[in-house]
Amino acid sequence: MTAPSVLVVGSVNLDIVASAPSLPRPGETVIGATLQRHPGGKGANQALALARLGGRVRLWGRTGDDAFADEALALLAAEGVDLSGVARLPGETTGVALIGVDPGGENQILVASGANARPTPADLPPVIREALLCQLELPLEVVEAAVARAQGFVALNLAPFAPLPAACLGRADLVVVNQLEAEALGTAAQGVRGALAVTLGGAGARLYRQGRMTAEARPPEVQVVDATGAGDVFTAALTLALLEGKADGEALRFACTAAALSTTRPGAQPACPRRGDVEALMSGVGP
Ligand code: RIB
Repeated sequence: MTAPSVLVVGSVNLDIVASAPSLPRPGETVIGATLQRHPGGKGANQALALARLGGRVRLWGRTGDDAFADEALALLAAEGVDLSGVARLPGETTGVALIGVDPGGENQILVASGANARPTPADLPPVIREALLCQLELPLEVVEAAVARAQGFVALNLAPFAPLPAACLGRADLVVVNQLEAEALGTAAQGVRGALAVTLGGAGARLYRQGRMTAEARPPEVQVVDATGAGDVFTAALTLALLEGKADGEALRFACTAAALSTTRPGAQPACPRRGDVEALMSGVGP
């Protein structure tokens, strides 16, 4: 089977991660954290996950012309993701995510968008022939224009949540949300023409078509170290599995297993699993 080709139109960040004894409440200072830096950004994470799971991937996005850009793009380049659509903007800073992670793997994320806030619809390719995957860390008008120019399969991960026009939701073949995003989406979910996947954290995920649940999957039991980027891995894996023609139940199980595996390792991109590891875990071989 030829590997599906996917264009990811999305963000590139450098993640600065503090693993801490607890996450701070507003106004609280927590000491005793250890610091790491990883490539991140929902767009870049999903591009890397797609590549590691077997897709042919092109990323379209923006970074600054600073040293953070090299660090943020390093794993994507190493995995053979086509970065010809990623422009380095002179005088701009690369996006940065400040991430706190607690011992249970829960996180808090603050994003300074930098160059991710700069693209306009005029910068996009006029026609998108590959499958398209977008998240909402770029300006919404860019996401809307990308969807309008797509000729094939369209997947939208509504994270972080923002309302999209009904025409955009109605064009999507797949929409992925977590429970909070599903609540925010509300009755607009009825306008989703394709599949709607709702992730439930450790409880797995459900897939709906035209309001009817077509599949439900639970993840395998794993030791969670860091849940950062698990939603990105889920979105990439589900998109790829549906493009490969897998039935809803099998596709959802593949995505839940890939996402669970990603939580067993620290960082978003360093934790993106390879296809062989996901398939091994699906057949009962533990991480
Ligand atoms: O989904 C996880 C990602 O969200 C992190 O990598 C961070 O960069 C933020 O964009």
